Amino acid sequence: MGLLLKGGLVVDPAQDLEAERDLLIENGRVARLAGTGTIPAAGHEVQDCRGLVVCPGFIDLHVHLREPGQEYKETIASGGQAAAAGGFTAVACMPNTQPVNDNAAVTRFILEKAASARQVRVYPVAAISQGSEGKILAEYGELKAAGAAALSDDGRPVSNAQLMRRALEYAHTFDLLVISHAEDLELTGHGVMHEGLVSVQLGLRGIPAAAETVAVFRDCELARLTGARLHIAHVSAAGTVEIIRQFKAQGAPISAETAPHYFTLTHEAVQGYDTNAKMNPPLRTEADVAAIKQGLADGTLDCIATDHAPHSVLEKDLEFDQAANGIIGLETAVGLSLQLVATGVLTLPQLVAKLSTNPARLLGVPGGILREGAPADITVLDLHRPWTVDVAAFKSKSRNCPFHGWQLPGRAVLTVVGGEVVWKL
Ligand code: DOR
Ligand code: ZN
Repeated sequence: MGLLLKGGLVVDPAQDLEAERDLLIENGRVARLAGTGTIPAAGHEVQDCRGLVVCPGFIDLHVHLREPGQEYKETIASGGQAAAAGGFTAVACMPNTQPVNDNAAVTRFILEKAASARQVRVYPVAAISQGSEGKILAEYGELKAAGAAALSDDGRPVSNAQLMRRALEYAHTFDLLVISHAEDLELTGHGVMHEGLVSVQLGLRGIPAAAETVAVFRDCELARLTGARLHIAHVSAAGTVEIIRQFKAQGAPISAETAPHYFTLTHEAVQGYDTNAKMNPPLRTEADVAAIKQGLADGTLDCIATDHAPHSVLEKDLEFDQAANGIIGLETAVGLSLQLVATGVLTLPQLVAKLSTNPARLLGVPGGILREGAPADITVLDLHRPWTVDVAAFKSKSRNCPFHGWQLPGRAVLTVVGGEVVWKL
């Protein structure tokens, strides 16, 4: 028996398709995609998708699952549930676990846990350097053979430019994407929020936008030098968008992501010393938010990723200076991103490209397209189902979310991975 998604608006930018279709799933794959009413329902389970949007499954290429080592914040299973509930069919998980995912044993452990959780697909991102300490490169061949999908020292920058050059050269030989957490730690100093009017008002030490832009410029130059594929993580600053735009125009092999909080919030959210507005890079100004929206609209920013960064109250319920960086994002990302469509920043196909087509292409993983024969990884959206964010209802183990109580325009109502329903509202 197959699963027939009937009458939905199929939005698949990889096929330049935006039309009402029936979609039949059999044996974990897209068996047929055809005009509404043309696939006989007999013998199949039918899901009425009229009025809904059927998309290739969303892929979040930047999450922190915290396992191994910090299972009190999140596990691969709980993070997988949060992903499914948020409309994601796959996530790429960053290596800053304990121990760091810098060797094949950790990569395999993550994949085994993910397989037994049977939720979403999990693609481990392995470390660029041993222990992510920025000193000695990890063994990329071994990591790729174990299942690593990309490389990053996320959470920390690779401060040594020569090591970053060698990392890009080495990664290039294995065609592994290098994801850069671009930050100049000297410019960050002891800063805890964006350096500007609000940091002065609050008496908190600031992080200038230049802490990001100078590091982004360096890495873009190194991508051009080496020809290796470089991906800039969590773009927060207008200057970064402009640098990436220029390098891309010159043909450099660069891609980039931003996160929903960077196009939704400004440093004003820190007023009241709310540690749920503390993350790295920090929330910035109205002008930065506008530039990020422009970068999304004109294609400078290829992907929307969550940087889902779970922390417990032990790390967050502290003085602002002392609190951990990061917010969870898997269960609010789609709702926040739909605001971009509602306000005309992005078309629906553009949004689906940033949540599915582009991350699939950059990671080189299955998915991102709903053609016949492709894996049945599918996200079904209801664009007109307003809901109120309630952190108590989250599947994530953590609650560090600045959007509690927000009203969002729509959400994922069905998430299908390999033909299996992993979430249904
Ligand atoms: O805010 C952040 N949290 N930024 C990072 O780069 C790391 C992340 C985390 O692991 O908590
Ligand atoms: Zn990072």
